[in-house]
Amino acid sequence: GAPVEVDISALRPGEKMTVEWRGKPVWILRRTPEQVAALPKIDNQLADPKSERTAYPTPEYAKNEARSIKPEFFVAVGICSHLGCSPTDKLAAGPQPSLPDDWQGGFLCPCHGSTFDLAGRVYKNKPAPDNLEVPPHMYLSDTRLLIG
Ligand code: FES
Repeated sequence: GAPVEVDISALRPGEKMTVEWRGKPVWILRRTPEQVAALPKIDNQLADPKSERTAYPTPEYAKNEARSIKPEFFVAVGICSHLGCSPTDKLAAGPQPSLPDDWQGGFLCPCHGSTFDLAGRVYKNKPAPDNLEVPPHMYLSDTRLLIG
């Protein structure tokens, strides 16, 4: 499939947009500074906080705490690494039904309950075997992203 060019200029902090790439949903989430700051705080709750597993290898340029090129923007394939459902947004921090009390925001897979943080990192003891896939991507400018 051809790479997809995306204009991200209208995306505000805390918002997520979805585009299609190779028939898959790709999420672009613009994280707030608070959301970025919260990422390291839950490493001990995650199965693979440093993205060292290899089922969906994380590109070298995204092998960091935020799993992204720019901490503000998170780009991921919106498909659960378990059996392929699409996780739903639980972007707000704080207590929510069926989520940890100190939930910092992220995604919940409705099929078998896997939870992911705002960098797509899967929580421990969940059926999903890996973090969400970060697709190949690059910035053409501050407001234009190329996926693929
Ligand atoms: Fe997501 Fe099973 S498909 S937890």
